[in-house]
Amino acid sequence: MKPIIAANWKMNFTIDESLNLIDEIIKKSPSNEAELIFFPNYISLRSVQQKLFDSAYKVGSQNVHHDESGAFTGEVSASMLSVLNLDYVIIGHSERRQYFYESDDQVNQKIKRALSVNIKPVVCIGETIDQRKSGKTIEVLTRQLNKAFEEIESFNANMILVAYEPVWAIGTGVSADKNQVLEAHALIKQTLASIFSENIPILYGGSVNASNAFELINLNNVDGFLIGGASLKSESFCQIIENVLVENN
Ligand code: 13P
Repeated sequence: MKPIIAANWKMNFTIDESLNLIDEIIKKSPSNEAELIFFPNYISLRSVQQKLFDSAYKVGSQNVHHDESGAFTGEVSASMLSVLNLDYVIIGHSERRQYFYESDDQVNQKIKRALSVNIKPVVCIGETIDQRKSGKTIEVLTRQLNKAFEEIESFNANMILVAYEPVWAIGTGVSADKNQVLEAHALIKQTLASIFSENIPILYGGSVNASNAFELINLNNVDGFLIGGASLKSESFCQIIENVLVENN
């Protein structure tokens, strides 16, 4: 399987800035040895999707609403996204859980919405620093996974990606260390195996950069990355891709 390298641009970039960054990345990293996925903001989504249409690069949304339609000012539904022919949608990012109070139950509903329109959910889970310090990491990750995939039939397994993003490692410059990643990914693998029979790719996210990408991608059960800060500049993003591919060749 190709390593998956996903760029979560969060609330950054105008349409033009998004398109320029794509141009720079394509110029520097034409390789199709990695599966590259871009997650622009809603406003840039259509332009980025049109630009990358028919290419090997994939595009996804950073969010989707859990209801089908209705009086939810400012929200976007799965069927609206499906018109754009998107490949992926991020669901349950810790920033959504933390700042927009998204619950495990809503995460579960969002996954169902995405699957119903054939968009692959990238389901984010991760513990806070307090949960880790109080020895609750395993409990939290297990609960998030079991709730997220409640009543989701196993034939959907090949549509699903999971991203382990410890909340304390996001945007801090301090990634989880080797043993923390190994332990969490092994647990996630095992839990997913008990829910689905198929192999589900597990991404790591949280302060991935050009210096740690090499070590992290080589760890057991790490199938790729979900990258925030380091995906905002073509230099750092392309350097990560290069380091990942060195390790995979
Ligand atoms: P950083 O790479 O900036 O830590 O962000 C990770 C993330 O939240 C990706 O979804």
